[in-house]
Amino acid sequence: MKLLFSLLLCLCLPSAWADAAPKLDIGKGGQCVEDAQWMRKNHMHVLKHQRDEAVRKGVREEKHSLKNCIECHASTKDDSVIARADSFCVACHKYEAVKLDCFECHSGKRKSAWLQRNAK
Ligand code: HEC
Ligand code: HEC
Ligand code: HEC
Repeated sequence: MKLLFSLLLCLCLPSAWADAAPKLDIGKGGQCVEDAQWMRKNHMHVLKHQRDEAVRKGVREEKHSLKNCIECHASTKDDSVIARADSFCVACHKYEAVKLDCFECHSGKRKSAWLQRNAK
């Protein structure tokens, strides 16, 4: 019985791994500001560099702004990049055990939706 169980476990493992890959809600679609493959590896550098530039010198670049990412990548279901387990900025990070503090200050919501709900 034990042997049969481990045999089954071995047979099932490859598909279990496939399931563990993060499922992403890409959001609105369109075309990423950089090649998707490149972005997968380098988005953190683009964002972090910009964070320092923006905060220290007031420099902002539309193309790589966090707001721009969120406009596209927020889910079409809830306008957020962080609301659910498969939300765009959450799915990979959960899988890779990366913890972000960005959204303590930055809104994770698409601006258009945010403005609608918080009209000032
Ligand atoms: C105009 C819409 C748009 C903007 C703006 C945008 N993206 Fe994308 N991004 C996409 C789409 C669509 C894909 C999926 C394309 C593909 O898989 O070929 C993608 C793919 C990605 C991926 C790879 C996802 C995967 O499947 O592995 C990452 C990471 C990413 N984007 C991060 C960002 C970041 C960070 C920003 C802001 C600096 C940003 N994107 C801005 C539309 C956008
Ligand atoms: C303590 C608050 C705080 C935290 C935490 C924080 N930021 Fe920011 N960030 C700011 C402020 C303030 C600005 C400048 C005002 C602005 O441009 O909205 C800014 C600007 C930016 C910008 C340039 C403007 C834009 O919208 O693109 C980027 C990119 C950015 N931050 C990314 C990040 C990322 C990525 C993280 C997480 C790793 C992060 N920030 C965490 C406060 C914060
Ligand atoms: C395709 C998977 C994937 C997506 C989608 C993704 N990330 Fe990441 N992100 C990663 C990985 C993997 C790392 C860790 C890389 C490392 O450890 O060098 C990371 C790291 C980061 C870091 C640096 C964290 C640190 O403490 O060093 C920031 C900032 C970041 N991501 C922001 C974002 C934002 C904002 C979004 C949504 C717009 C996003 N990421 C979407 C995979 C992803």
